[in-house]
Amino acid sequence: MPDPTVLYVLNGPNLNLLGVREPDVYGHETLDDVQALCQRAAGDAVLVFRQSNHEGELVDWVQEARERASALVINPAGYGHTSVALLDALRTLTIPIVECHLSNPAARERFRHRSYVSPVAAGVVSGFGSFSYELAVKAALRLAQEHRAAADRSV
Ligand code: DQA
Repeated sequence: MPDPTVLYVLNGPNLNLLGVREPDVYGHETLDDVQALCQRAAGDAVLVFRQSNHEGELVDWVQEARERASALVINPAGYGHTSVALLDALRTLTIPIVECHLSNPAARERFRHRSYVSPVAAGVVSGFGSFSYELAVKAALRLAQEHRAAADRSV
């Protein structure tokens, strides 16, 4: 049996308040709703879905994903605009990374235009509310498949 595809979906600060936090910007769905949506989109893949308000915990999980994941989706939330530590951790990964946002940071305040994650992401999905996650999961699974096929060809 081939190894299962393991997809990590990591969520940064304040996303635990999804549904009650600025619903006009982030929508009415909760993080549990988003997790269920990701599970549906991931099909048979093993989904590891987590949220933290703590930068170091997110760094730890990125390092864990380095050992265990086939691909990583990350909504870094506010840390995406500030965290060199998160960027450094992400740089250690060889698996595909997809950056995901509910809103479209590029269309918002200037301080949201900088992303420390984008330089190491294969792609960014933003602005579609919870549908951003569905698209990001699909993209990450496709990239994981391609990544595995390329690795198999090289042995
Ligand atoms: C966000 C956008 C960020 O600018 C913001 O800090 C968030 C959520 C989004 O999903 O739209 O917390 O990542």
